[in-house]
Amino acid sequence: MPTKPLISKQVESSINAAIASEFYASHLYRHIANYMQRLGYFGAQKFFQAEASHEVEHSQMLVGYLNDMGAVASMPMVDAITEDIASLADALEAAYDTEVQLLKDYVKWHGGSDPVTQQFLLQFIEIQRKAVGEFGDLISRLERCGDDKAALLMLDKELGE
Ligand SMILES: [Fe+2]
Repeated sequence: MPTKPLISKQVESSINAAIASEFYASHLYRHIANYMQRLGYFGAQKFFQAEASHEVEHSQMLVGYLNDMGAVASMPMVDAITEDIASLADALEAAYDTEVQLLKDYVKWHGGSDPVTQQFLLQFIEIQRKAVGEFGDLISRLERCGDDKAALLMLDKELGE
């Protein structure tokens, strides 16, 4: 017979919420990648496809944690993405906002957890801090490009490397 869960119902539901958020981010990044392809930003397309895969990896880490603690993750329903992404700026801003929100959410989930879960969640706060920094830097880089098409294409190329 499987063992009894080692975490509270509240912590279990926080981790399930985190799983749902990681899937949402993955879904959003696939959506953005599709739009980047449409706009001819093939470097950004590749970049966002890779980001989408990272988010699925993050969700899998959370699934593994629930299993370690004697619980089972629930697979969430993921909302359809309807955001219009008409430019590279739209893409980077949507990603930045999503990562900032997720950073705030992880801080909240961390605050409401037991010490073992808190220790596990710290790595996600670190991941989010870096993601927020990375997208913030990319938005600054994009602002430096201004209307210079050659600079934009160079940034796109870098994103694909
Ligand atoms: Fe993530």
